Amino acid sequence: APRVLSGIQPTADSFHLGNYLGALRQWVALQDTHEAFYCVVDLHAITVEHDPAALRRRSRVAAAQLLAMGVDPDRAAVFVQSHVPEHTELAWVLGCLTGFGEASRMTQFKDKSAKYGASATTVGLFTYPILMAADILLYTPEPGEGQVLQVPVGEDQRQHLELTRDLAQRFNHRFGETFVLPTAYIPEDAAKITDLQEPTVKMSKSASSPQGIVEVLEQPSTMRKKIMRAVTDTGSEIRYDEENKPGITNLLRIYAALEGVPVAELERRYEGQGYGQFKKDLAQLLLDTFTPIRERTEKLLEDDKQLDRILADGAARAGAVAARTMEIVRERVGFVGRG
Ligand code: TYM
Repeated sequence: APRVLSGIQPTADSFHLGNYLGALRQWVALQDTHEAFYCVVDLHAITVEHDPAALRRRSRVAAAQLLAMGVDPDRAAVFVQSHVPEHTELAWVLGCLTGFGEASRMTQFKDKSAKYGASATTVGLFTYPILMAADILLYTPEPGEGQVLQVPVGEDQRQHLELTRDLAQRFNHRFGETFVLPTAYIPEDAAKITDLQEPTVKMSKSASSPQGIVEVLEQPSTMRKKIMRAVTDTGSEIRYDEENKPGITNLLRIYAALEGVPVAELERRYEGQGYGQFKKDLAQLLLDTFTPIRERTEKLLEDDKQLDRILADGAARAGAVAARTMEIVRERVGFVGRG
């Protein structure tokens, strides 16, 4: 079967609407047709200063949310990145194929290092995309299998995916055909969900204010308030217009993606109606989507042991694939075998 691999950082107490529409919904859908590997990337989460207890808790909350959203651990390997040490091993090898200038051009690094300042900009933050490339390429399909490796992500990860493809190609060229070039699976309609208060910038756990984010796990009354208070634009028309009406455009995009209808249909449905009714309906749609996920997450978190068993099983399955890939890589690169 073709494969799918993706990762998410456990850097907040809850995933947000951008994560859900940009990536996680696709994770759930793709497990039906692909052999799936889904990873909570705790190694990436320490590239900025963090609290150890919070990281441990958030990693479990992250895994619970994935399961609550419908990722099925019988089909998909759900695991924690640090449980599979091959991720860091392959990252080293790929780092030795990455140009310093090439890594310096990563826009997410440039943004984050500007935001955190020189003293908080670590080498780990700089090499972050190389570790991500390793996350992906370890799960390269074997020859003869469906030669497809899909990576469902939001628009902000596109450049990292391109680096991953470049590194795969470079490795293949130097050491012989080893990696299948992965393809980004980016949804057309929801690749970039924006901040409710600042609708021209991405909704982001690190950059948005709490009012700008819809959290998957937040209480219904809070969620409703955030939608009702979302910034809208001048005029009262419910019309998709990225340039002049970024606020209502973002809400239309969210609504359309959640309900699975074209934006044009919503524009027709709300013709002549004000923002109030539209927002009320959207808030209800969000609650219908996230309430069962929140309740299932809470339930799963009541039994850490069971959750840890699922993660251990995921790591064993992912680890078997990673070990096989790494064995080939070591041999190709010229490391002496262990005998
Ligand atoms: P992360 O943890 O920041 O986000 C997880 C996923 O959510 C998507 N996303 C969005 N999509 C649409 N609109 C938004 N406002 C929005 N905000 C976030 C992200 O694109 C991502 O798909 N580097 C990755 C994690 C990672 C990874 C990997 C992903 C590590 N290794 C291997 C894929 C494959 C990241 O920081 O995602």
